[in-house]
Amino acid sequence: MNKRPRRLRGDHNIRALVRETHISKNDLIYPLFVVEGEGIKKEIPSLKDCYHYSVDMLDDEIKELKSLGIMGVIIFGLPYHKDEVASGAFDEQGIVQKAIRKIKENHPDFYVITDVCMCQYTSHGHCGILSEKGDVLNDITLDYIARIALSHAKAGADMVAPSDMMDGRIRAIRTLLDEKDFSHIPIMAYSAKYASAFYGPFREAASSSPGKGDRKSYQMDIHNSDEALREIELDIEDGADIIMVKPALSYLDIIRRAKDKFNIPIAAYNVSGEYAMIKSAVENNIMNEAVIYESIISIKRAGADIIITYFAKDIAKML
Ligand code: PBG
Repeated sequence: MNKRPRRLRGDHNIRALVRETHISKNDLIYPLFVVEGEGIKKEIPSLKDCYHYSVDMLDDEIKELKSLGIMGVIIFGLPYHKDEVASGAFDEQGIVQKAIRKIKENHPDFYVITDVCMCQYTSHGHCGILSEKGDVLNDITLDYIARIALSHAKAGADMVAPSDMMDGRIRAIRTLLDEKDFSHIPIMAYSAKYASAFYGPFREAASSSPGKGDRKSYQMDIHNSDEALREIELDIEDGADIIMVKPALSYLDIIRRAKDKFNIPIAAYNVSGEYAMIKSAVENNIMNEAVIYESIISIKRAGADIIITYFAKDIAKML
């Protein structure tokens, strides 16, 4: 035998020398849920160890993230008020807008990304404007989505991340941001976002389940992968700076295909159901917590540059 692969596995030094995949705290984005009210820090039942925060309670959380070396969050808002057109989503006094201003006031160097969508803000729970029949109207929705993104930028967001999956939203957002002097604000497009059951715990956490029907007319069919590449290509043409694949763990093949095909930063969203599944397995001693690191490394190895994950703090502590 003159080929012995085990020679490069002998001890931790040689394993480290030939390691192909690395993860850094700089790769991690933590999702943050902000609620109306005061003095609230309440554990989210569907997402253990994650909390609903009111704006006045955000400061300690940001300090903790910074002390762990995590440089950014993606914000999700839970508004008081829901209506047909998601007014709360583009209100200057809306929950996300208030949260951004609050974070930036004390931590101007902390990176704030916002999820741009309507589902938490619409009375019907869909990610767009509905026709009388109940269909999601694509082109009218674009005006709203762009307006929401602009209001986040005005409040001080560093980056906007549209998750609605309407056709043409990246161009609509880019055009409006550029017109209003926000040409420096990048767009992270949820490009390949699947109609996944893994969003269950998030919908509990954000009370954003559609009242009637599902999201299959706008989010992608779980059976498809060529289609994901077409979606990504369109978003890049329309001006996306970063593209996203979501969920992550059941879609590692999509991350890899995107990485091989496109020369653009790729984000992967390790979603709520993926978190809840592993979290409960670890808590119930079915597996040990090494599976957390292993699952996140698998996302990196598949080709993701950026990982949005509820495990961000756990990973930062392990590094
Ligand atoms: C909003 C949105 C969702 C998630 C992120 N943005 C829910 C959905 O599309 O139903 C899911 C995130 C997660 O499950 O962690 N459109």
